[in-house]
Amino acid sequence: MNILITGGAGFIGSALIRFIVQHTNHRVLNLDKLTYAGNLESLSSVVANPRYHFSHTDITDYQAVTQIFNDFQPDAVMHLAAETHVDRSITGAAQFIQTNIVGTFQLLEISRLYWENLEKSKQSLFRFHHISTDEVFGDLVNTDSYFTESTPYAPSSPYSASKAASDHLVRAWLRTYGLPVILTNCSNNYGPYHFPEKLIPLTIINALAGKPLPVYGNGEQIRDWLYVEDHARALYLVLTQGKIGESYNIGAHNEQRNIDVVQKICSILEQLAPVKPQGISHYKNLITYVKDRPGHDVRYAIDASKIKMELGWTPKENFDSGLTKTVSWYIENPEWVENIQSGEYLNWINKHYNS
Ligand code: NAD
Ligand code: TYD
Repeated sequence: MNILITGGAGFIGSALIRFIVQHTNHRVLNLDKLTYAGNLESLSSVVANPRYHFSHTDITDYQAVTQIFNDFQPDAVMHLAAETHVDRSITGAAQFIQTNIVGTFQLLEISRLYWENLEKSKQSLFRFHHISTDEVFGDLVNTDSYFTESTPYAPSSPYSASKAASDHLVRAWLRTYGLPVILTNCSNNYGPYHFPEKLIPLTIINALAGKPLPVYGNGEQIRDWLYVEDHARALYLVLTQGKIGESYNIGAHNEQRNIDVVQKICSILEQLAPVKPQGISHYKNLITYVKDRPGHDVRYAIDASKIKMELGWTPKENFDSGLTKTVSWYIENPEWVENIQSGEYLNWINKHYNS
């Protein structure tokens, strides 16, 4: 197959491309705008492979994306390009509307026109796989239930609302035009190459630098964490074996309170990096409770039984093994971290945590 992957220079997109290039014979075109979150260094292990290609393009650029479809002739589109950070969506929603909603609309339209002109045999094989989040379901307050594929949408933040809108557009393009779409809604990912604005990489990097570890509110919010390589494997399985028009929830049944995640990272660092920055006796002493996020979702938890029963997917990593691998990776790759800590990263940290 020729697989067009949008947002392939991001955290999950790069894991997906590494997986496809290393484990299959497909050709991949990575279409990415390279925002602050896009980093081609995350693809250094596949860049020399002749089956990997890159195009520096914005998904909202209709003409450029149309040209790419005509040149590359994709058999499948895997759409990951998005603005993804909840805190940034609170202070600057406009870019989330533009990329996540308008961008998805453009991509659907271009895909539809391209697909309508394919010969019949290729038309029936074509797939548009939309990669979404469990945050579209809102949060689970005062309940021990889980998000299933039929949980009603109730997004809380500008980010999750923009993703919910994009999911609705994708379903409408199937119902109205017959475009063969598949959706996945996944829980919080963690692992190597994760941009350090998100909780787990921020905690690791700040701890190693002897800086405060910011915990929002009381730290009791719950997230359901999945190792990114398990997600990449699930995405490929859904693309190749999932049913048209279906959505699949992806998660590892791994609910953790934020404070426990931060404590766990501190314990792992005590083992793996016992020599600490000057003046620090224990990493956990750096934990600092800070102002809560507005509209902060309390609990996310995924019921992943459908993908397990129908496609046979289960995660390979548990939280201890995945988190230890992740902490080790950040310790062993200081140059990746240094390169990312550029002007834009520092601007965000200063604006968000020091205001
Ligand atoms: P990320 O922020 O790390 O990467 C996003 C990528 O999209 C970047 O490479 C960026 O340059 C690119 N991009 C942004 N705007 C673009 C545009 N207009 N045109 C082309 N490229 C653009 O995101 P991620 O964590 O890898 O998430 C990927 C997808 O998975 C997103 O759609 C997100 O909603 C979804 N998702 C993420 C998580 C998670 O925990 N990170 C969980 C579930 C679902
Ligand atoms: P994040 O990694 O931003 O993912 P999401 O908001 O998509 O779930 O945040 C994960 C959880 O960690 C969330 O409940 C907010 C919390 N958090 C902190 O407590 N401190 C921080 O500095 C950050 C970035 C997040």
